[in-house]
Amino acid sequence: MAALVLFGGGGDLAMRMLLPSLYFLEHDGLLADGLKIIGAARSDESRDEYVAKVRASVEGKAKADDAWSDEAWSRMEARLDYLAVDATSAESLKPLKDKVGDGACTSFLAVSPSLYARIVTAMRAAGLAEADDRVVLEKPVGRDLETFREIDDAVADAFSEQQVFRIDHYLGKETVQNLIALRFGNTIFEPLWNNLSIDHVQITVGETVGVGDRWPYYDEYGALRDMLQNHMLQLLCLVAMEPPSDLDPDSVRNEKVKVLRSLRPVTHEEAERVTVRGQYVAGTVEGKPAKGYDEERGAASDTETFVAIRADIDNWRWAGVPFFMRTGKRLPEKRTEIVIQFKPLPHSIFDNDRGQVQANRLVIALQPEEDISLSVMNKKPGLDQRMQLQPIQMSLSWGQNDKESRPPRRRIAYERLLLDALNGDSTLFVRRDEAEQAWKWVDEVSDAWEGAAFKPKDYAAGTWGPQEAQYLLSRTGRQWNTGDA
Ligand code: BG6
Repeated sequence: MAALVLFGGGGDLAMRMLLPSLYFLEHDGLLADGLKIIGAARSDESRDEYVAKVRASVEGKAKADDAWSDEAWSRMEARLDYLAVDATSAESLKPLKDKVGDGACTSFLAVSPSLYARIVTAMRAAGLAEADDRVVLEKPVGRDLETFREIDDAVADAFSEQQVFRIDHYLGKETVQNLIALRFGNTIFEPLWNNLSIDHVQITVGETVGVGDRWPYYDEYGALRDMLQNHMLQLLCLVAMEPPSDLDPDSVRNEKVKVLRSLRPVTHEEAERVTVRGQYVAGTVEGKPAKGYDEERGAASDTETFVAIRADIDNWRWAGVPFFMRTGKRLPEKRTEIVIQFKPLPHSIFDNDRGQVQANRLVIALQPEEDISLSVMNKKPGLDQRMQLQPIQMSLSWGQNDKESRPPRRRIAYERLLLDALNGDSTLFVRRDEAEQAWKWVDEVSDAWEGAAFKPKDYAAGTWGPQEAQYLLSRTGRQWNTGDA
């Protein structure tokens, strides 16, 4: 690959995530010799001004992680270039093609998805969509199945599917890949990984941040489209998929598509029982007062900032095992986790067992700390006449066990994904049919929400969503994981 072009190279995503990721890859010697990194954006600035901006955004992060090196920076600086372009105009992209030269180019579209179709058309006309070139698309592609297809059809006119890398940054997270290792690199879990042993699965993505300045985008999407359509369904797929025959991009993605196809559609009649929509009102988050969503937006809105859904997967493995998902802004803590809740004992031999035997629980934590832990029952040490039990947490990842092999810092998810895109490995990227299936299911949910009954319910900032989110589980005799051991 001769060049990586960052469209929107001066924007928030590029400055906060992509360029720091590239610096870290540079620092670790993982970028190919000769790879140029070219920022392309509207702003009329010189290369030197751009380089200074990049340095300002990278240096603080790198120093905070103890990974700043003048030498690595000067290598990265030598790769950097900048060009002011109107990316929707083929004429304007020609000088960019000249900078790229004859080698292959990967273009990352870190711009508003509403521009994707026009940009890829211009790229094609300017010679930036040749057979060896690639394009990386940041989510959200479209707002529903129809708009996804409109954009993706334009992309498909310029690039073949093998050249298209649809990013879901959750797939770049270390623990998400560790889930694949845990499931398919061990024999002990797979025989239990089904409706005979598992009672239910929970996926929580809690955030303390509000929507803030992002509301012009967010208000059109809401939690369902911003988080559930992509990140959460991807996590669900990795938990629920059948073992692929190998780690080839298509083998893995074929299995994920099968899961998405097996998701039971949510009907209007069912929606009240299996979905919860919420919107935060003023409250307190992490000890500080927080405004309500409507106040931030400056007007009333019916967009949900919280969603909880019970998903059922209609296949042999998962029949009868609900997957509960919840995500929201302005929740009490930033916590992302997958909980595999095993079934309770069929019969307890502990005669003083007053609910002290807790069913095993595997918690795959992505944030704030990355760890995989299994709770198992243990004997409480001591000479009590009747055996006393207690749950203990066993760490199954490098999180607790092995401080030595712990990576020196937590990688940005984009590091893995940028590297894979540059190397042409699309295993951790979303294929077209996968995105289509996810949109199809999400469209059914949002269609089911038609009508006044589905207006988002208020929840105070700093709480775990509307009460109904608790009922979603409690009515089936279950409870959300509280995070307390
Ligand atoms: C983005 C969403 O895709 O993911 C944001 O658009 C959200 O709304 C973010 O805050 C969460 O990512 P992470 O990695 O911080 O969990």
